[in-house]
Amino acid sequence: MPEMKASLSQQFNTNLTRVQPTPIRTFDYKASKIPEIVKLTLGEPDFNVPEVAKEAAIDSIKDNDSHYSAGSGTPALRTAISHYLKDRYDLDYDAETEIAVTIGATEAIYASLFAIINKGDQVLIPTPTFPLYESVVNLLGGEAINIDTSANNFVLSPEMLKQALADHDHVKAIVLNYPSNPTGVTYSADQLKALADVLADTNLIVIADEIYSELIYGGHHTSIAKFIPGQTVVLNGASKSGAMTGYRIGFMAAPAELMKRLGMVHSIMITSPSDPAMAAAIPVFDSEAGKQATLDMKDAYEKRRDYIVAALQKLGFTVATPHGAFYVFAKLPADQGTDDVKFATRLAEEGKVAVIPGSYFGDGGEGFLRLSYATSMENIKLAVERIKTMLGK
Ligand SMILES: Cc1ncc(COP(=O)(O)O)c(C=O)c1O
Repeated sequence: MPEMKASLSQQFNTNLTRVQPTPIRTFDYKASKIPEIVKLTLGEPDFNVPEVAKEAAIDSIKDNDSHYSAGSGTPALRTAISHYLKDRYDLDYDAETEIAVTIGATEAIYASLFAIINKGDQVLIPTPTFPLYESVVNLLGGEAINIDTSANNFVLSPEMLKQALADHDHVKAIVLNYPSNPTGVTYSADQLKALADVLADTNLIVIADEIYSELIYGGHHTSIAKFIPGQTVVLNGASKSGAMTGYRIGFMAAPAELMKRLGMVHSIMITSPSDPAMAAAIPVFDSEAGKQATLDMKDAYEKRRDYIVAALQKLGFTVATPHGAFYVFAKLPADQGTDDVKFATRLAEEGKVAVIPGSYFGDGGEGFLRLSYATSMENIKLAVERIKTMLGK
């Protein structure tokens, strides 16, 4: 095996020294090696891809659908996404000029931040949150400004936003993620409107990561793009709602002038997404069968959520009922201290239950654990039993 020439070590992009491999994956990887461990770690649906999506992918392969498509994705998928955004969220985006299909929401996050950030630019990121945002900002030479929302039940308030804007003078963008990974908290239309009123007076670009928008329990998802479409990039995809993380289909939607810039980064990076994966996503976004498949999964998640929230509360954890996504963000019982990494490590090694330490999600996550209920009810029940035993209850 070749060894890298030693003198090359100074030849790399120095921004690489500002990013670390995500501790979530590292923790999960280590925990996975513990025999018989029950894992409530990853944000990965445990359901199979809906049949309509599989059939569409197979048809696409059989039809020799195997060529470069338009950089922004096939017209058929962009049209399906445009229908989806109108049907579910009453958003108007033109399939031709205002939507681009990406390689998962991950690429959409990267492409949109790349199109915005120059060296030293600041990006507001309410925390605790999905750690990828900060990594991408750092990789691009920007500065992530964390806004700790833990004192406000993990919701960014207009006052916090105004304060952050007053404290920093190079802010170019804000990333909002709702429903949230890791808290499951989401924003009501009124809360979004109040933030939008503040943002409308700025030149910030709003990156709205709405990848969990279909997984809302007992309510309806509203996009901030409803209020300030002219400065918002909506990110979403099929990974969570279609249980198809491995197909890697996401998208971004934004006004045409904005999309021109995002699309440029996107097409230089990836040329075009995969044809069969795009074909599979069409019925997920735009068919009754696809819609129903998502609703069925949502029903199952909701039952699991109700069970795990009640069980953890009984064991002394403080849990605000999450209204979306498939995570519970639970505060350690008072007698267990506040060191979430220590507790999660002990829980994995002694209790044989893997969960993610809250501090891995940034400021405000200390003393919390993220438990993913994208796993079977049987696993969840077993995990709860084991946590109970470890706590001596
Ligand atoms: C908030 C959030 N955004 C984006 C992603 C990535 O989505 P995708 O698999 O479509 O790239 C995830 C995955 O866990 C996520 O939690």
